[in-house]
Amino acid sequence: METLLIEQDGSILIVTLNRPDKLNALNRKVFEELAKVLDEAERNSSLRGLIITGAGNKAFAAGADISEFAHYGPQEAAAMSRNGQRVMDRIEQYPLPIVAAVNGYALGGGCELAMACHLRIASDTARLGQPEINLGIIPGYGGTQRLPAFVGRAKAIELLLTADMLTAQEAYQLGLVNHVVASEELLAKSKAILQKIAEKPPLAVRRILACVHAATAGNRSGFELEIAEFAACMETEDFREGTQAFLEKRKPRFTGR
Ligand code: COA
Repeated sequence: METLLIEQDGSILIVTLNRPDKLNALNRKVFEELAKVLDEAERNSSLRGLIITGAGNKAFAAGADISEFAHYGPQEAAAMSRNGQRVMDRIEQYPLPIVAAVNGYALGGGCELAMACHLRIASDTARLGQPEINLGIIPGYGGTQRLPAFVGRAKAIELLLTADMLTAQEAYQLGLVNHVVASEELLAKSKAILQKIAEKPPLAVRRILACVHAATAGNRSGFELEIAEFAACMETEDFREGTQAFLEKRKPRFTGR
């Protein structure tokens, strides 16, 4: 795999996003490879759970790859959002438990990926947030739909509109992450939870995941609206300005056009 490291440890598959020099930003290839790994893992009867984490000690994933979508128009943006949502939905509905081991920045698509997983264990250095607004866009992989379900509507609106990042401890207090541990204990804690679940009856595990998903699946029209609004952002001058400013490492000047 070009963008992922895959390692099986007993009944657990560890999937590591492996673009550390780009803070594990999610590009098209990452999604393609993630989808392939999920398909293969579902056929592997020796597995009882998956861990998704990021390479390096800085980031889980710092979002969608800005350099890849900076030149997109609305049609490409809609396809990007729909494809990303499809992979996030697949993770959320996966028949085996998936733990996000959040080892650093989980921003934008990185936070959306963590939220799609069944459990989130964060290192005490993790930072989580949805800073898309700083680029003149909105989340496109379900962030506007899943974040309120975790942290409540009021806090979600604040985070989405201010782009503020949460510390791991704040994310824990808001119920966004299940546990916060020291960096060096992150994988061990993630494995320990999955090992505990691995001793439970696999069919009951699968049925609980399906029922909890049914209870919290939410309104699909919200996800569709997110795709349309994400795509519409790509027609604006503020999107060009926001992404160019990021790539040129300067502050953006937004005009509302
Ligand atoms: N897409 C593409 N490249 C990204 C990226 C992203 N989402 N996030 C970081 N990178 C790249 C940077 O461009 C930089 O590449 P370079 O070394 O070739 O210049 C490298 O990763 C390191 O990032 P840098 O910004 O230099 O690290 P930092 O420690 O100064 O800042 C962050 C860390 C996470 C605060 C900052 O990278 C950031 O704000 N990233 C974007 C977050 C975001 O808006 N996500 C939503 C995207 S839709």
